[in-house]
Amino acid sequence: MKKLYIETYGCQMNVYDSERIADLLAPFGYAPAARAEDADLVILNTCHIREKATEKVYSELGKLKLLKSRRAEAGESLLIGVAGCVAQAEGAEILARQSAVDILVGPQSYHRLPELIARLARGEGKSVQLDFPADEKFDSLPETRTAAGPAAFLTIQEGCDKFCTFCVVPYTRGAEFSRPVVRIEAEARSLADNGVREVTLLGQNVNAYRGEGPDGEAWTLAMLIRRLAQIPGIARLRYTTSHPRDMGADLIAVHGDEPKLMPYLHLPVQSGSDSVLKVMNRGHTRDAYLRIVDRIRSAQPKLALSSDFIVGFPGESDSDFEATLDLVRQVGFAQAFSFKYSARPGTPAASMAKQVPENVKLERLHVLQELIVSQSREFSRRMQDCVLPVLFEKPGRLPGQAVGRSPFLQPVHVDGAASYIGEIHNVRISKVLPNSLHGEFLRPAVLPAELAAH
Ligand code: 5AD
Ligand code: SF4
Repeated sequence: MKKLYIETYGCQMNVYDSERIADLLAPFGYAPAARAEDADLVILNTCHIREKATEKVYSELGKLKLLKSRRAEAGESLLIGVAGCVAQAEGAEILARQSAVDILVGPQSYHRLPELIARLARGEGKSVQLDFPADEKFDSLPETRTAAGPAAFLTIQEGCDKFCTFCVVPYTRGAEFSRPVVRIEAEARSLADNGVREVTLLGQNVNAYRGEGPDGEAWTLAMLIRRLAQIPGIARLRYTTSHPRDMGADLIAVHGDEPKLMPYLHLPVQSGSDSVLKVMNRGHTRDAYLRIVDRIRSAQPKLALSSDFIVGFPGESDSDFEATLDLVRQVGFAQAFSFKYSARPGTPAASMAKQVPENVKLERLHVLQELIVSQSREFSRRMQDCVLPVLFEKPGRLPGQAVGRSPFLQPVHVDGAASYIGEIHNVRISKVLPNSLHGEFLRPAVLPAELAAH
């Protein structure tokens, strides 16, 4: 038996890809290892979205090179593979900068790994596969899924045709591609058969989903969600990441009338300033975003909203940034992610004039994050003493404890819940902590002994 260790960086789509790589290599004798030191094959599944994420890959490869030389001295071998978006975007540079790398695969070509490993074993030199056949990849992956726990990711759509001027995704993941409904449904059923209760549908532009339906027509995400909600074992559905431009009326309606769809939506806006949104090529205005938020909230008043923001995009003025803060105050987010603009080679924004100085970016990031944290704390505070259904996912840090998720994606710790992993139970929120909630089981009302006697 050989051992495989995968280190995953970046988004949930990479988490999904890493699980599929493990599924793919299992029949070839690769069992999972807990650390690189124990593995015969190490794969870094990389992220190219910001410079920092990319730099991490090179520093990790430096460490792996040392491990490989130590192995070689002991007469043993170690294969090093780089997968994901850095491999796709910087393949040649990786090979030039780090000679220890044996295999390169892109996000659309990792299904070729078994063949590439076999080629290496035959001594055919470095193995590189960076083509873009998205449909071929999904067709070659095993139908069944090994579930890591009761909540799982399922990629239904990949790629992006939107070309926001700051973003590398259209270049690394390619054009928008949607998987057919029957294939997604088969995978979801296989997950349910393996004890999965919650499925998060993934795509770079998941709500742009237009996959072939069983009737041969192009189905929308709303139609797909309604179909998957009929699988008895699946109790909860989520989807991410969405684009405001693709928030169709039928999808908004599902939020109002499909109880299995959780009341949580990650809807990146990036900026609250119309002029910045325009140069970003986002294809929506501030007002259009606010109108969409209103419509979803009328359909589902409980909805928890999340978003992504970029500060310090080229040309962003103080008043543009003020407009972002104002949008945040107006919407009220349950949570949000914010990033300093990072110039990515090959994207239009990287060569724009009026790049914002680092210190200004940092200052704006602090101000925005403070506002967002205060909003998310306020959102959590409102949970005090509420009763929430929790899907228990894994053991907690303390003995007997289990951690699950609320419908709003908040982690909830409950004592004495270890035997409930994989189940959904109502829990009373007894304590609101900075990044999680503490809950207690509802005890049935019991009469005091003296009254019970009567
Ligand atoms: N710089 C900073 N943040 C970026 N994102 C995407 N590209 C960049 C970039 N060049 C952020 C966006 C996106 C999230 C996944 O990452 O906010 O929604
Ligand atoms: Fe990148 Fe914009 Fe596409 Fe999102 S919609 S992946 S930010 S180009």
